[in-house]
Amino acid sequence: MIPPARPDLGPEEVAAVTEVLNSGMIAGGRKVAELEDRWAKFCGCKHAIALSNGTVALMSIFAGLGYGPGDEVITVSHTFNATVSSILFTGASPVFVDIEPDTYLMDAGRIEAVITPRTRAICPVSLFGVIADMDAIQAIADRHGLTVVEDACQAHGAQYRGRRSGSFGYAAFSLYGTKNMTTGEGGFVTTNDDRLADWIRLYRNQGMRERYHHEILGYNFRLTDIAAAIGLVQLDKLERNTARRQAVARRYDEAFADLPVRLPTWPDGRTHVYHQYTLGVGSTRDRIVAEMKDAGVICGIYYPIPCHRQAYVLELGIEADLPNTDAAAASSMSLPMYPGLTEAEQAQVIEALRASVLRNAVGTGDRS
Ligand SMILES: Cc1ncc(COP(=O)(O)O)c(C=O)c1O
Repeated sequence: MIPPARPDLGPEEVAAVTEVLNSGMIAGGRKVAELEDRWAKFCGCKHAIALSNGTVALMSIFAGLGYGPGDEVITVSHTFNATVSSILFTGASPVFVDIEPDTYLMDAGRIEAVITPRTRAICPVSLFGVIADMDAIQAIADRHGLTVVEDACQAHGAQYRGRRSGSFGYAAFSLYGTKNMTTGEGGFVTTNDDRLADWIRLYRNQGMRERYHHEILGYNFRLTDIAAAIGLVQLDKLERNTARRQAVARRYDEAFADLPVRLPTWPDGRTHVYHQYTLGVGSTRDRIVAEMKDAGVICGIYYPIPCHRQAYVLELGIEADLPNTDAAAASSMSLPMYPGLTEAEQAQVIEALRASVLRNAVGTGDRS
């Protein structure tokens, strides 16, 4: 079976972990500090704070910015659950806006209609490896005195008009096993805000600057040095692996150019780092995914149930009318995408997808 994702782990990661294990310093931070320093430089921001996962990174930003009950954060429903649960963690409420049907990203044109006196922030998601329209979103935020928090969990190294994901002020990254760069589990906050950076460093460490002096209510959200050692090797490989993902995507683009499917699209001035290669295939999507599995290819559906339709969100009484989000959930699918995908594997994916789409074609599933 060809999996949807496969981390690029090899002898370099093994050597890096072995070195940490042999040093006896498996926690406590030397590798963590080095990784943070390099990640901040890579993104082009002042601070990177490593955390135990991307969910905690988002939670720490929203908590550190002081959001709570009565506050609202505008975000998308076409995302992984953690975007939404991390807002709710603080007691604040997510307010959903629809996505653009072609990019699957937050539709900036819909934001102002949902701003209220309670709105504190806008949280666009750099979904699948493309950054949303940050200039438009930042301009709206500036007009209304709001903060922009980028959920960059899927967008390591993605660029928007020459700026990298994570450089816009407040961002969270995930280092989960399937991400473009991984430490197994892990995450980062990147920010230019000295106060927030200091607060999150305390928050992740039981509120301690000095041992057993708990300045704030904090927890254990630290990354281990074992994980950070893997992360340093992964960062060395990130640009090479991004180029490999982009080459895989180009071959998919060429192979599917004549099919009645919607290929990944994004506006000029941005680079796609292809965390996912996602196609719009229309209402026969589930049949195509099942036929791909029969042909030995596991495809992903990101995400089959939008956040605003999840049971726990409905129970909170949060409602939204998001036709583009619903359409994307019903009609899109993601193909195997990883830097080590061989040409033979990719040929198998391409052959299976072409055959299945031609058997089941109904169009792209767009609303209009
Ligand atoms: C868009 C998005 N937000 C948040 C997260 C949460 O990251 P993690 O799984 O590291 O907690 C993920 C990753 O799964 C994600 O894809």
